[in-house]
Amino acid sequence: MATNARPKMILSACLLSKYLLKYRLKCPRKITTSPAKEERMPKLGYGIIGCGRIFPFHARAVRKLPEVELVAVSDIVEERARKGAQMFGAKAWYTDYRKLLDRKDIHLVSICLPHHLHAKASIDAAMRGKHVLCEKPIAINEEEARRMIDECRRRKVKLAIISQNRYNDASQKLYKAFQEGRFGRLVLGCADVKNHKDQSYYDRDEWRGRWATEGGGSLTTQAYHIIDLLRWIMGPVRSVCAHMATLTHDIEVEDTATATLEFENGALGEISSTNSSPIGFSTRLEIHGENGSAIIQDNRIVYWDFPGIPEAEKVLEAHLQIGSIPNRGYGESHPRQIKEFVRDVLEDREPLINGEEALKTSRLIWAIYSSAKSGRKVYLTKGGGDA
Ligand SMILES: NC(=O)c1ccc[n+]([C@@H]2O[C@H](COP(=O)([O-])OP(=O)(O)OC[C@H]3O[C@@H](n4cnc5c(N)ncnc54)[C@H](O)[C@@H]3O)[C@@H](O)[C@H]2O)c1
Repeated sequence: MATNARPKMILSACLLSKYLLKYRLKCPRKITTSPAKEERMPKLGYGIIGCGRIFPFHARAVRKLPEVELVAVSDIVEERARKGAQMFGAKAWYTDYRKLLDRKDIHLVSICLPHHLHAKASIDAAMRGKHVLCEKPIAINEEEARRMIDECRRRKVKLAIISQNRYNDASQKLYKAFQEGRFGRLVLGCADVKNHKDQSYYDRDEWRGRWATEGGGSLTTQAYHIIDLLRWIMGPVRSVCAHMATLTHDIEVEDTATATLEFENGALGEISSTNSSPIGFSTRLEIHGENGSAIIQDNRIVYWDFPGIPEAEKVLEAHLQIGSIPNRGYGESHPRQIKEFVRDVLEDREPLINGEEALKTSRLIWAIYSSAKSGRKVYLTKGGGDA
C-alpha cells in the first residue's frame, strides 16, 4: 500500500467511529463500537530520531495520542537509543536512522537532532514517504531549508517545524488580542532572553557553539521561540541593525546579541539575548500598541492593559496563571503541536508552522547575524523575509 494511502484509511476509520459514537448519543437503542474493534483500529506508526534532551517531550506526547504508536527510535549513541526505546515502549531502536526510515510501519517522524542534521534527516525521511516534524530551527542556512521544503512538497509529505511556544495559553491569548485589533496600531515589540549557560553546556555536546553545526548561539538556540512569537504578532520585519559578541564562553558563535528592528507596518522593535547572565532562565515579550499593552514573562502573562478593563480586573488578568504551563524551561506545549501535526496528516491539512513559516523566523535571525557581522543595516526581502 502507498504510504500516503494509509493515513486516509485511518482517517476514514476515525470518522466512522466518531459517527458511531455521535449516533449512539442520539439513538435510544444502544449502538456500541466494541472495545475489541477499537483496539484493532490501525494506528499510524511514529518514529523519533535523536534521543537527547528534547526527545522525552516528543516521546511522551506521541505515547498519549490514540491515533499513533511509537514504533522505533534512533540515536547514534547506542545506549541512548536503547534506553529511549525501553523508557517509552518503542518496539525497536537503531543507531542508523535510515533503518528506522526504511520501516514500512512508520508513517511520521520527529527529527530531534543537532541543527546541521535537520535538513539531511528530513530529506531522507521525505524520500521514504514519511511525514516530518522537525525541531527548531528549520536548518542552518537558507539553501538547506529550501531543499527540505522542496523535497517534502515533491514527495507530498507534510513538513512541520516545532514552535511549541505558539501553543502556550499565554501566547494564544496574546495572539487573539492582536487578531481582535485590541492593540490598535502596533508601535513597539520587544523580545528578551536572559539565560545562564556555563562552558560545560557547550563542552558536553560537540555540535554546540559552532557555526557549521549549531548555526548560531544564543539567538538561534535559546531566543528562537521568543523571536518567533515577536514576528508572529508584530508581522514581517523590514530591516535590522544588530550587534553580537562572545563574552563569557569559549565558542565560535554569539553568546550575547542585541538588535533593533523596523517592522513592515511601521512599528519598531528590539531583541536582546544572552547566555551569559547569572539568571537561570528568563524570557520576556512585550507588545505595545496605541491602545493597549501586554507582557509575557516565562510563558505567563504578567501585564495586560487594554481600554475598558477595570483596574481590578487588569491586576487579576495580569497575575492570572494563564493555563498550567510551567513558567520555566521548554514549556509544556509540545503535546499540543504534535497532536496538531498528527491531525494535519490524518486530515491532509497544511501544518500552520510549515517549512516556509519557520524559515521566516530563521531568516530574521540570519539577518541579525548579517547586520552584526557587517556593521550595517540589513533589509529583509519584501515581506520581511516573508516573501
Ligand atoms: N523546542 C524546544 O523548546 C527545544 C528545546 C531543546 C532543544 N530543542 C531542539 O531539539 C534539537 C535537539 O536538541 P537537544 O537539546 O535534544 O540536543 P542533544 O544533543 O541533547 O540531542 C541530540 C541527539 O541526537 C543524537 N544524534 C546526533 N547525530 C545523530 C545521527 N546521525 N543519528 C541519530 N542520532 C544522532 C545525539 O547522540 C543526541 O543524543 C535541536 O534542534 C534543538 O534546538 C528544542
